[in-house]
Amino acid sequence: MNIAVTTPQPKPDTETVVRSLTILGGRDKTGNPEKLDLKVEPGDVLCLVGPTGSGKSCLLADIECLAQGDTPSGRRILINGAVPPLTWRYATGRKMIAQISQTMSFVVDLTVAAFLELHADCRHLENQAQIVRQTITCANQLCGEPVKAGMALAQLSGGQSRALMIADTAVLSASPIVLIDEIENAGIDRKRSLDLLIANEKIVLISTHDPILALAGKKRLVIKNGAVTDVIETSFAEIRNLAVLQRYDYALGALRHRLRGGERIESPLDWGCV
Ligand SMILES: Nc1ncnc2c1ncn2[C@@H]1O[C@H](COP(=O)(O)OP(=O)(O)O)[C@@H](O)[C@H]1O
Ligand SMILES: [Mg+2]
Repeated sequence: MNIAVTTPQPKPDTETVVRSLTILGGRDKTGNPEKLDLKVEPGDVLCLVGPTGSGKSCLLADIECLAQGDTPSGRRILINGAVPPLTWRYATGRKMIAQISQTMSFVVDLTVAAFLELHADCRHLENQAQIVRQTITCANQLCGEPVKAGMALAQLSGGQSRALMIADTAVLSASPIVLIDEIENAGIDRKRSLDLLIANEKIVLISTHDPILALAGKKRLVIKNGAVTDVIETSFAEIRNLAVLQRYDYALGALRHRLRGGERIESPLDWGCV
């Protein structure tokens, strides 16, 4: 069956507001059908969980290229309930989808401010100076090491780079869909990063092994052998546990800070009352 014939097509360039993204199942690595018809809306955060090699990045890649049964998984991605026009799949300018990966680094010779000004300029934004300042302030809320306007992009650490990219995606970028591949070891405040993207009404899909991120999403997709095998809605009990996990996480962060400062950690740790 040819999906392009059976699914309504939006008129190219007339419908650019993303109201929903739908993932239609394909097949797992052994060729068995993946039973999935999942609609995601702006402000939703979906986490992808599963062992290494299970197919998390593959699902993100399917969304990134707006797959139409033409990737190894055979999945199809609909935007606003319809097959997106080809121009959306291959657009290089106003990209609908932003992707933040674990191994990103800048290769351009620009300062943080010059890069953000360039981006604001490309987007024809007014109040550029204010938006640039706002983006840098946001980046600093996500990362322990300060990000300053005059710093060279190429000299930013991994944590600073990702904090800047998340702030840029949330504040400056027009992309309504954000894909994040395993940022747990990125040296940034993961929960705050998610909150920032949610507040800006993005659709966020994030692959993660991190319990804090996994429970911070509205739903999580369990991935096994290349296919989504379960969709779990985060329960109230899990949200309660998330608050406890966050307290442990801050306590661990404080310990890390003390160790970095050359302190000894000898007083008994009482994790029961953090
Ligand atoms: N449904 C599928 N059908 C065929 N190959 C798949 C499928 N899903 C994933 N793969 C392949 O399995 C390998 C591991 O997938 P990947 O997405 O990198 O896993 P993860 O990100 O969970 O570690 C990749 O080579 C990918 O192309
Ligand atoms: Mg991966």
